Amino acid sequence: MKALILAGGLGTRLRPLTFSMPKPVVPLAGRPMVRHIIDPLPQEVDTVILAVSYMKDYLERYFQENDVGREIVLVNEDEPLGTGGALKNVSRWLDDTFFAFNGDVICSLDLRAMLEAHRKRRGIGTMALWSVDDPSAFGVVATDGSGRITMFQEKPAPGEEASNSINAGAYIFEPELLDHIPDGVVSLEREVFPHVLHRGLYGHAFKGYWVDAGTRESFLRAQRILLDASGGRVACPVRRLAGVHVVGSNLIEATHVEPSTIGPNVYLEGGARVGRGAVISDSLVMAGAVIGRGATISGSMIGPGAVVEDGAVISDTILA
Ligand code: GDD
Ligand code: MG
Repeated sequence: MKALILAGGLGTRLRPLTFSMPKPVVPLAGRPMVRHIIDPLPQEVDTVILAVSYMKDYLERYFQENDVGREIVLVNEDEPLGTGGALKNVSRWLDDTFFAFNGDVICSLDLRAMLEAHRKRRGIGTMALWSVDDPSAFGVVATDGSGRITMFQEKPAPGEEASNSINAGAYIFEPELLDHIPDGVVSLEREVFPHVLHRGLYGHAFKGYWVDAGTRESFLRAQRILLDASGGRVACPVRRLAGVHVVGSNLIEATHVEPSTIGPNVYLEGGARVGRGAVISDSLVMAGAVIGRGATISGSMIGPGAVVEDGAVISDTILA
């Protein structure tokens, strides 16, 4: 079975970090974001197709250097084709029931259960559904008593939403869906879903967590959920943390941490350096970053090349 990951976005909302690395490889709680989609795929998924249009070489290098246990096919779009065009563009690989994902979604969806539900219903597709208080920034669905989607609205105006159920960005489709996608730049949400409802597009609600991790705030929210779920880990020898005050759930791989205060919700990637007296909370500090003595960091993503001066105060910021 195949899985397609739509990863063609420019990651504009994670700039300037995404000027030097594509969003799928930004480290989230111990592994590149895209691994949070690839790793939980059911065993029968042997091939993962990544539809990209930005920094393909970077991703190619990542998958050459890291065996993820499945065949990876990277397909480049010279011009972004939209979510539907991207699907159509990889049609030649999709000859059977397949998974498709928005590349920025981090969630607790049970893919096996969803596949079982899809196979029972025999529709053209199944869409994972999540419930939110304010659905207008998402795709919104109405369903009938059998779970069949009867209306799909992409980003409806506030007050126009048919329900609180949103498109969670994880799907199972039959190849027949590809016949309903015209050539060129096409939005799956706006130009395809509304026209295939008669063929049976079903909703699959799930519980647990769901985050579209495409902004600094939502990325750090996803990090918090994942670190809390793992109970927090220290991956470096504890003696390296002598004098370090650790608060809450964190992932500490960093190789050089002077006595400081870390947490909650901090991921210090291996190779990050933290100076004496620094106070870091709710942040990602990537390999190669240097946090100066007495610096205070909160709500921030500190990229691999960043040097934070001694005593600096950084909050709610992305540094490259
Ligand atoms: N290959 C490729 N080409 N990928 C693309 C393109 C493209 O032209 N455009 C967008 N993508 C990828 C993005 O990288 C992202 O992983 C995914 O498709 C969805 O695009 P976003 O730009 O993140 O869309 P959104 O978050 O505003 O809305 C979508 O996701 C919501 C859930 O987070 C829609 O699918 C909504 O209906 C949904 O509720
Ligand atoms: Mg998104």
